[in-house]
Amino acid sequence: MLFKNKLSIDNIRKNIIGINKKVILRNGKSTNYIYFDNAASTPALIPVLEKVSEFLEWYSSIHRGAGYKSVISTRTYDDSRKIVADFLNADFEKNAVIYVKNSTEAINKLSYRLQLDKNDIVISSLMEHHSNDLPWRNKCNTLFINLLKDGSLDLNDLEKKLNAHKGRIKLVTVTGCSNVTGYINDIHYIARLSHKYGAKILVDAAQLAPHRAINMKGNRTDEHLDFVVLSGHKLYAPFGTGVLVGPKTTFQNGEPEYTGGGTIISVSQNNVYYAAPPEREEAGSPNIVGAVALAESIKIINEIGMDNIKDHEIMLTKYFLENIKKISEIQIYSNTNEALIPDTAGVISFNIPDLHHSLLAALLSYEGGIGVRNGCFCAHPYIHRLLNLSPTEIRKIQQDMMFGRLEDVPGLVRVSFGMYNTIQEIDIFMEVLSYIMKNKKDICSEYKYISSAGRYEPKNLPKNIYSEFTL
Ligand code: ALA
Repeated sequence: MLFKNKLSIDNIRKNIIGINKKVILRNGKSTNYIYFDNAASTPALIPVLEKVSEFLEWYSSIHRGAGYKSVISTRTYDDSRKIVADFLNADFEKNAVIYVKNSTEAINKLSYRLQLDKNDIVISSLMEHHSNDLPWRNKCNTLFINLLKDGSLDLNDLEKKLNAHKGRIKLVTVTGCSNVTGYINDIHYIARLSHKYGAKILVDAAQLAPHRAINMKGNRTDEHLDFVVLSGHKLYAPFGTGVLVGPKTTFQNGEPEYTGGGTIISVSQNNVYYAAPPEREEAGSPNIVGAVALAESIKIINEIGMDNIKDHEIMLTKYFLENIKKISEIQIYSNTNEALIPDTAGVISFNIPDLHHSLLAALLSYEGGIGVRNGCFCAHPYIHRLLNLSPTEIRKIQQDMMFGRLEDVPGLVRVSFGMYNTIQEIDIFMEVLSYIMKNKKDICSEYKYISSAGRYEPKNLPKNIYSEFTL
């Protein structure tokens, strides 16, 4: 399929670093790598790398440097914040665009900066990955929005919780899109509910930002998003930058969780005057290169058009779901209702009966050169729910994991698409999966479980495998 504007899928692929890399299979032959693990990290865009190289010729100290290059570096870093704000349709006057390492650091930062105490309530959800769950647990009372049978959020449960605890709820914090099932949450409806009961909302947009446009202002004022976080490495800019965007007023008082150079206006031996946000929140020399990379990636995504990316990924998801069912008995944990595919990102988790998730992921890699992720995707409570595990089973799994007995730990296999993936790649995936299913017994006998690594590997690894890159 061609994108509707001048940027065809072929052009996009030509602009992905490493798209033509070949990898070695169990049989020693090499094949084109197919990367279906974009929910974990996306590859980098060539123009991003080029922009970074161009910038590095001007790279210099920022904010504190007086030289010519420092002026350019400072201006570039500051300008990049506006590009991020526009991408999120955030009010740049009222909001601070704070650079951090990634969404995890952004959420941790906010969990400190909201100055929560043990009487405050934060409502998270059972769908979250650990980064939007653990930072809240030790600072306040954390409640979790329940799930419906299909693994989507039970928004009636959210309203019940908001109503039952109104006045004490500081924040409702939800993912914009699940990293396990790809469900896209109705964040503006959640915002409306949260505001109705006096709570603010944080949207963890790590998974949403590569797949859908984000509108922090909302179409109605009560639908605005108070805080949004995202990660550059899931947005084709893996240079160590993420952002936390939120009202400047939240960051105007109190001490940042990290203090030091860059956060202050003035320090005497006895006192400190902190700078205004965002500087107050960015201790130490910032990652200017990461900011350049993220801004450039956003510019390219804008040029491609988020609607085009969305249409393309919906088409891939439909095609994948239609075809995988033909090959094998399969349990899909993501949405399978065709009418709801437009409300789901191309993140599909599944299991094939009698084939351990870890073995299937290894087979896809060593038999077909296909990279997927398996396991619990840093979202253990959600996986426990999706797999309908009892408290006794969960306890047993936790004990096994604590003692390094990973072989029987349940999990899923996940395929996740990026804007550059193709129907042809899905066809190859289906061919490889058919081949595995038809020859399952023979092929599986060629694999062994490596308990120290917690994964399967061929009994005989080909020579020189993994030797392509070394430091
Ligand atoms: N990065 C994590 C994932 O792969 C959360 O889903």
